[in-house]
Amino acid sequence: MVSPKPKEEDREIESSLRPTRLADYIGQERIKERLRIYIEAAKERGDPLDHVLLYGPPGLGKTTLAHIIANEMGSSIRTTSGPAIERPGDMVAILTNLDDRGVLFIDELHRLNRTAEEALYPAMEDFLYDWVAGKGPSARTYRVKLPRFTLIGATTRAGLLASPLRDRFGITLRLEFYEPADLERIASRSAGILGVTADEEGFKEIAARSRGTPRVANRLLRRLRDYAQVRGNGVIDGRTAEEGLRMLEVDHMGLDRVDREMLRSIIEKYGGGPVGLETIAASISEEPETIEDVYEPYLLQIGFIQRTPRGRVVTRGAYEHLGLKPPGDPSSQQRLW
Ligand SMILES: Nc1ncnc2c1ncn2[C@@H]1O[C@H](COP(=O)(O)OP(=O)(O)OP(=O)(O)O)[C@@H](O)[C@H]1O
Ligand SMILES: [Mg+2]
Repeated sequence: MVSPKPKEEDREIESSLRPTRLADYIGQERIKERLRIYIEAAKERGDPLDHVLLYGPPGLGKTTLAHIIANEMGSSIRTTSGPAIERPGDMVAILTNLDDRGVLFIDELHRLNRTAEEALYPAMEDFLYDWVAGKGPSARTYRVKLPRFTLIGATTRAGLLASPLRDRFGITLRLEFYEPADLERIASRSAGILGVTADEEGFKEIAARSRGTPRVANRLLRRLRDYAQVRGNGVIDGRTAEEGLRMLEVDHMGLDRVDREMLRSIIEKYGGGPVGLETIAASISEEPETIEDVYEPYLLQIGFIQRTPRGRVVTRGAYEHLGLKPPGDPSSQQRLW
């Protein structure tokens, strides 16, 4: 329910909820301030914007921001994703077809293959593409001149990018989890677009349980609309939100069943840790990548787990949240926390 990864139902509705201008993009003030300056400067000079790397957990608004940047630049945007670029020909076809000062948005940049990645280096640096014709000793390299373009790369895992690629981005922006006040505004804006009625208490409940993530806020809003329609008078007030979220098993910190199962399993099977990611994944039948991308970032953010060199450790706060007694005498607790 509170997974920040997009579900099918999100995909359909997200385009209608996406802000299209920087002014409508709520929160992330530091990022917006920097972007405003860079965009204005590039436009004044008639240059393309420097390449932009956007990174952060799923659902925080990377794709949205990429479109906004193109929009604010008055540029066309072409979107693709790392895994979609398979053969060397794919990359050259995309690059040569860009407009002057156009934006190329590559989502899941960390999943780009090696050849495609290396083709990007001269493209990003000098707007050149090295085309190799033939094989072996008779092979020849032709340099193709490309349109001046802006690469916007998005990734949930900046750590997986090769450093030569990372270093070629002039602008690197890390998206942060949103404050409850921002999430309230996001939910309220979405409610306006979707024609959902909610009061202040209702928005507050949604914001508090959206784990800092706009995508989750929008999803909870839609589920609560259904609940309010069937069980209430159609208005999402504080009580409806509370009841509806209880039915969805989303607790007041925004944790759902999977989060709690994961924490419980570390506590019950591994004494609270430290325990390796692979082991945690196996014990709750999830992929390690899913845990690292989807569940863990928020649990780390609220301090319910910690990463140590020997693995993940559940903190005292998490025990208390689950209504469990932290283990051992005070001295062993000091060692652990
Ligand atoms: N700052 C914001 N203001 C208002 N709405 C936002 C904001 N950021 C994100 N959203 C909403 O959240 C939804 C998800 O955002 P988006 O698809 O851009 O996330 P993402 O970071 O690209 O996620 P993923 O990593 O899964 O690709 C969007 O449909 C948009 O409606
Ligand atoms: Mg995206």
